[in-house]
Amino acid sequence: MQLWQGRFESPLDAQVNDFNASIRIDKRMVEEDIGGSIAHATMLGKCGIISMQDSELIVKTLSEMAQEIQNGTLAIDESAEDIHTFCEAELTRRIGDVGKRLHTARSRNDQVAVDFRLYTRKRIDEIADNLRQLVQVIIQRAEDSAEMIMPGYTHLQRAQPITMGHQLMAYAEMFLRDLSRLEDCKKRLNVSPLGSCALAGTTYPTDRFMTAGMLGFASPCANSIDGVSDRDFAIECASDIAMIMMHLSRFSEEIILWCSFEFKYVELSDSYSTGSSIMPQKKNPDIAELVRGKTGRAYGNLMALLTMMKGIPLAYNKDMQEDKEALFDSLDTVQACLTVFAPMLETLRFLPDNMRNAASGGFINATDCADYLTGEKGVPFRTAYKITGELVAYCIRNRKTLETLSPDEYRAFSNDFDEGIYAAVDLMNCLEKRTSYGGTSVASVRAQIENAKARLSNTEGL
Ligand code: ARG
Repeated sequence: MQLWQGRFESPLDAQVNDFNASIRIDKRMVEEDIGGSIAHATMLGKCGIISMQDSELIVKTLSEMAQEIQNGTLAIDESAEDIHTFCEAELTRRIGDVGKRLHTARSRNDQVAVDFRLYTRKRIDEIADNLRQLVQVIIQRAEDSAEMIMPGYTHLQRAQPITMGHQLMAYAEMFLRDLSRLEDCKKRLNVSPLGSCALAGTTYPTDRFMTAGMLGFASPCANSIDGVSDRDFAIECASDIAMIMMHLSRFSEEIILWCSFEFKYVELSDSYSTGSSIMPQKKNPDIAELVRGKTGRAYGNLMALLTMMKGIPLAYNKDMQEDKEALFDSLDTVQACLTVFAPMLETLRFLPDNMRNAASGGFINATDCADYLTGEKGVPFRTAYKITGELVAYCIRNRKTLETLSPDEYRAFSNDFDEGIYAAVDLMNCLEKRTSYGGTSVASVRAQIENAKARLSNTEGL
């Protein structure tokens, strides 16, 4: 039965009923729906819009319903149109006409908007917790690997020596930014649409500040038309999630590469990798691949929300019922990914010998060789660059490295070379010389770790 049946003479076509209904999606907001109704009923009583006695009975019954939902003794009837309809029908089934007073000075338009904000706020807090845990794991693994030399890459070509710890801390920065984005999103989300009613407000003497305060909102939204038609918070949240997924996906891509036989910088724990049904030698990074694969969903949901909103005139339109399925999928996806990604990273084993071998093989100290000629010997950089390029070509032809060339071989390319070149191209020296703020020296990376720890503890209030 519909809430709005009074004006209609024939029942809704069964297929249309099914098409129109949203309960299968919005039933997960049952707690928020009841919570919003409790605040509303309390306010109606205190403002004298309904009697205190009715208000108290409604609040008491709603609280019982919430408890029964929690302990599983009240099942949600999926033949209801949506969660708002179900809750009101159940209330009325229990207390008859008094229950029918609840919807005074309210519409499902402000009701759904308040439910959706409350639910999204709760999930943002959970995701922020997941993110904090991930950043903690990253920091831990960066501490473990702060002295493990590996090649840093540009264009996926070996570029300059860095440490695994330095590389990992780049991801910590990304997820810290994601945390601050969520915090920001929550600020704008946290205004109450309750009391906007259908769109124009109400003739009853309601107190929107009271309900906003009871529900933990910073204030009521300032414009009732905006209150019922704004879904920016959902789009913002979906966008923040798309960004988190993009970061997780890049990280996954690196882990997948690092697990390959060609790199072998890390090995996943058996609990976080899978085998092949036919190739006995395989150990596959399925978790990382799935995270990478699921990123598309998060982008899709964001695009769906933006597109859904772009053409609808003010205020509420039924198109907006599509908002929840899209955002719920993003929320579920990112949480599922964060939940498996952090322990996968925590249990992964580093293979520092392989990283070091790769670092020795790629002429990643060539910049330092050129810098030596320029810095120590006053050779113009462009000339030093050319001499070093010729040395590298010579090494490749003769299967040598800059560390293993003899002094004579060096001097065949430039008389400016002396014994000092060996210290200049030593990989650990190359690394340790990059002491600039944020750079790759062990001390710089340890400073980055301390700095990130401090910022992480500042996000506790999120
Ligand atoms: N199920 C609806 C939604 O999710 C609730 C709001 C219905 N409002 C209305 N005017 N039909 O958007």
